[in-house]
Amino acid sequence: HFHAIIPAGGVGSRLWPLSRAETPKFLHDLTGSGHTLLRDTWNRVKPLTGDDAIMVVTGRAHRVAVIEQLPELSEANIVLESEPKDSSAAIGLAAAILHARDPDVVIGSFAADHVIGDAQRFRDVVSEAVAVAREGYITTIGIEPTEPATGFGYIQTGAALAVDGAPHAQLVERFVEKPDLATATAYVESGDHCWNAGMFIARADVLLAQLAETRPTLHHGLMRIAEAWDTDDRDDIVDATWPLLEKIAIDYSVAEPAAERGRLAVVRGDFAWDDVGDFSSLAKLLSGGRVGDLAILGEGARVLADSASGVVVSQSPRLISLIGVTDIVVVDTPDALLVTTRENAQRVKAVVDAIKQAG
Ligand code: GDD
Ligand code: MG
Repeated sequence: HFHAIIPAGGVGSRLWPLSRAETPKFLHDLTGSGHTLLRDTWNRVKPLTGDDAIMVVTGRAHRVAVIEQLPELSEANIVLESEPKDSSAAIGLAAAILHARDPDVVIGSFAADHVIGDAQRFRDVVSEAVAVAREGYITTIGIEPTEPATGFGYIQTGAALAVDGAPHAQLVERFVEKPDLATATAYVESGDHCWNAGMFIARADVLLAQLAETRPTLHHGLMRIAEAWDTDDRDDIVDATWPLLEKIAIDYSVAEPAAERGRLAVVRGDFAWDDVGDFSSLAKLLSGGRVGDLAILGEGARVLADSASGVVVSQSPRLISLIGVTDIVVVDTPDALLVTTRENAQRVKAVVDAIKQAG
């Protein structure tokens, strides 16, 4: 039996001031589809699982907004964190709870904040990954790289795997999370590397065994919480254990070491995929709501443009006018305004860090 997990916790700092701690990236409609990214993720996965086999892991502060987006989400399928502890804890806890309920469960973790083109192709690829996962591999989805992005994990593909129902499965030679630019450039040029799409499909027992091997203390804490999860002791155990858990991404705790041990597989995904990391990728993505070469996001946005290109995000009633500017990024919200260029879009995170520093 297959159960999806949607970890919804990242803030998306490079999308400030659109994405905030209170309204993180996954609670926004970044495509103009009329749905938040979280809702799109649910809709995309649901044909594989039904409404009762999707678990969402998110912060306590987002409980109300998440339920509003996902009225089908049952109490049994929501995991609330008192503080973010990164993806190993989020995905690991969900896997441990589901494993306690069903020892044979295969889990698939899908980021809450990605944009995917062809949902049916996505599901076909995930179905292949589930077949590979049943054979005992921790399985990733690989995306053909188009540039040496340093914000992604890189997968070096190896021998083809003979798994029924998974004609595109390969063993992973090596997994490297977020390499530097020179390394990423070499990987892209090599021709045998793909991007990690940030999805992990595995038998819950296999994923947890890998965590037990490489991060025994974290694993122990997660198992303690999972054992108490469906009992009256839940809150006490969570309060005592969660704050002490190690904060580490699953790419380091599970993917890299699993690849070293020959336990990581990949199915290449041939669907359009974007993690919408910054406003430059948003500019590429938006097709509707254009004024000339300007992409516009925002209900009822009022924009006047003459010889302007780039992207405008409008969350205020203000009229925005742009004249003779190229590849510009303007993000207007009621209490903060960002002006930069597409080339500098990656640097927005530094602003957020500075604001945090200043308190
Ligand atoms: N609930 C919860 N709590 N979810 C979290 C937390 C947390 O503390 N931290 C991260 N997540 C969720 C995010 O919401 C997202 O759905 C997923 O875990 C991945 O976390 P990101 O923080 O977005 O990771 P990343 O984008 O830097 O890198 C990952 O994704 C890339 C593709 O977008 C890695 O898997 C890379 O290897 C991959 O290329
Ligand atoms: Mg991400």
